Amino acid sequence: MRTAIYPGSFDPLTNGHLDVLHRATKLFHRVIVAIAKNESKHPLFTAAERVGLLREAVSQWPSVEVDAFDGLLVDYARRHGAQAIVRGLRAVSDFEFEFQMALMNRNLDENIETIFMMPKDSYTFISSRIVKEIARLGGNIRPFVPGHVEAALIKKLGGQKK
Ligand code: PNS
Repeated sequence: MRTAIYPGSFDPLTNGHLDVLHRATKLFHRVIVAIAKNESKHPLFTAAERVGLLREAVSQWPSVEVDAFDGLLVDYARRHGAQAIVRGLRAVSDFEFEFQMALMNRNLDENIETIFMMPKDSYTFISSRIVKEIARLGGNIRPFVPGHVEAALIKKLGGQKK
């Protein structure tokens, strides 16, 4: 039974995340999406909201579980019997941080491998940060996120303006 952890902030989930996740399900029997609570990053969506958005997106994907975590990622991975951490790599600009994180995680636990997966090329320019900015400025985010995430963003940002 091969298990991978797909960790991230997912604030919010994008089509790029779903593409990487779908690719990971082809390699692993079980993939746990581990949403970092990351309160220090002041996420737009609470951890519970991010979990809810992800669960809705993967409700038809039987091998995917969604959870929130804090603490060290390698500890979480070990507790859940995972052999690998999956991270999406969009461009060279992602590489330096990802490389550093992968090597640090390997130093912390050499039994857990980090695997990088490239999203579909038409998704490589999507990021949660830019999607939030476009939504805040009233732009169309429909091509970049699932419909229920678009609705949640509009509701959240509308609520913030009041
Ligand atoms: O989507 P993000 O914000 O790029 O995800 C970063 C994340 C959550 C994967 C990273 O910050 C993380 O692993 N946090 C957990 C704490 C930890 O283990 N830190 C050491 C990593 S080298």
